[in-house]
Amino acid sequence: IAGNWKMNLSHLQSIAFVQKLAWSLKDARHDYSVTEVAVFPPFTDLRSVQTLISADKIELGFGAQDLSAHASGAYTGEISAGFLKALDVQYVIIGHSERRQYHHESDELIAEKVAIAVENGLVPVICVGETAEDLELYGPSAVPVRQLHGALALAGDATNIVVAYEPVWAIGSGQAATPEQAEQVAEQLRSVVAGVLGDDAGDATRILYGGSVKSSNIAGFLRQPNVDGALVGGASLDISEFASIA
Ligand code: PGA
Repeated sequence: IAGNWKMNLSHLQSIAFVQKLAWSLKDARHDYSVTEVAVFPPFTDLRSVQTLISADKIELGFGAQDLSAHASGAYTGEISAGFLKALDVQYVIIGHSERRQYHHESDELIAEKVAIAVENGLVPVICVGETAEDLELYGPSAVPVRQLHGALALAGDATNIVVAYEPVWAIGSGQAATPEQAEQVAEQLRSVVAGVLGDDAGDATRILYGGSVKSSNIAGFLRQPNVDGALVGGASLDISEFASIA
């Protein structure tokens, strides 16, 4: 269960938030070995979250929301995979629809980001998903399948990736996909992973559904054989709601 905070919570707020989230999960006797929980704070929070998690031995995972396709150098404003690795970051979201849309990230750039994440031992959380218009024009899986092929183009022999199917029309809209819709696309995405990275990777890859997930609809998604978890945006900013989802 992954919480994508997007551009919310300063580093000071992140400390209080992670502490309270850890307490809520502890109160609920959450078993992290059964359900992994990770948060994805803004870059400026990562050091604080890392320090807190390590000092208090909290079992939460954490990741970044993006990274640079370059290793280092004259790329003003960018954050490298190496910087993230040095902060014990385990995961990095790549190709979120908000980056594709507002920052014009192409499938080629996303492939480079996936490759550099994998090279540096970060687990990419590769986001794919169709817009409402794509859905009408091409049906549910064509665009996500194409995007995933694109994202894995340089992934070589990656063995540890996460895929998030996030229909753009479901993100932040309150209108989630149905569990059956999510399953249909997740199944296709799993075959893409198996086709490109091999059957073992296909079986081992966790496929998340994202888009208006909340505690009242999570169970339906997780009942689907090919949906292994969720990438949660808005509801991940509400501690009790996010803890309930987990
Ligand atoms: P949402 O966002 O849960 O607010 O719909 C999901 C996401 O963008 O990852």
